[in-house]
Amino acid sequence: MGADTMTRPAVLILLGPPGAGKGTQARMLQDRFGLVQLSTGDLLRAAVATGTEAGRAAQSVMAAGGLVSDEIVLAILKDRLAEPDTAKGVILDGFPRTNVQAQALDALLAQSGQQINAAISLEVDDAEMVARVAGRYTCGTCGEGYHDSYKVPAIADTCDKCGGTDMKRRADDNAATVGQRLGAYHAQTAPLIAYYEEQGTLQRIDAMGEIGQIAEGLSAIVQRAVA
Ligand code: AP5
Repeated sequence: MGADTMTRPAVLILLGPPGAGKGTQARMLQDRFGLVQLSTGDLLRAAVATGTEAGRAAQSVMAAGGLVSDEIVLAILKDRLAEPDTAKGVILDGFPRTNVQAQALDALLAQSGQQINAAISLEVDDAEMVARVAGRYTCGTCGEGYHDSYKVPAIADTCDKCGGTDMKRRADDNAATVGQRLGAYHAQTAPLIAYYEEQGTLQRIDAMGEIGQIAEGLSAIVQRAVA
């Protein structure tokens, strides 16, 4: 990587099916590397909650476990990337998810002389994903993620990070919808692994292990990718 590239904000992509741990790991990388986590799922849920036009269009698609249209997702992502905090570098969590989105991201980054540092594929078994998603809940105050079995807070229903007690479960975290989300991943998002492999930016990580161990492996990848 040339000296010129080193001065540009880092762009990292976390690819992986529902429950792979993208959000969990992105938050850790954000804290460790001072990058900004940018989750299209969170941006879409915020749009649904505030009742914007995009949110109204996305709501039923998300509830059914499908993918929201490229047009809506790209508009939301471009708006978020235009905010000044992203100049620190970004971790894209859940984006891109289609070939159209991947190509649009390349074109957008090229406009400002940026490029992807690494696209990291979190690899897990389908059965494990269903268990992870079914047991998930999140702090409604700071967004920290928890799990009924795998990651419980030190004090029940109290966030370790901010002390919040308003824990939330996502409407799309039920067995039927997870099956649809998994199908959408295999049909539309998994092919991006080959796309980034051809580009020479792909890194793979076994995401079946313990959260802290995976974080160590990911941090080593990120350290090399942003150096
Ligand atoms: P989104 O919010 O992106 O959901 P997702 O991709 O289905 O991923 P999840 O958030 O379910 O899983 P995760 O990988 O972040 O896992 P987590 O870290 O929470 O998207 C939701 C919807 O929005 C989509 O279905 C679609 O409709 C729409 N959408 C979003 N982006 C879009 C786009 N670009 N284009 C079109 N539509 C889009 O971990 C899960 C649980 O497991 C947690 O409880 C965690 O504590 C636990 N856990 C994590 N790691 C481990 C581990 N190693 N061992 C044990 N437990 C673990």
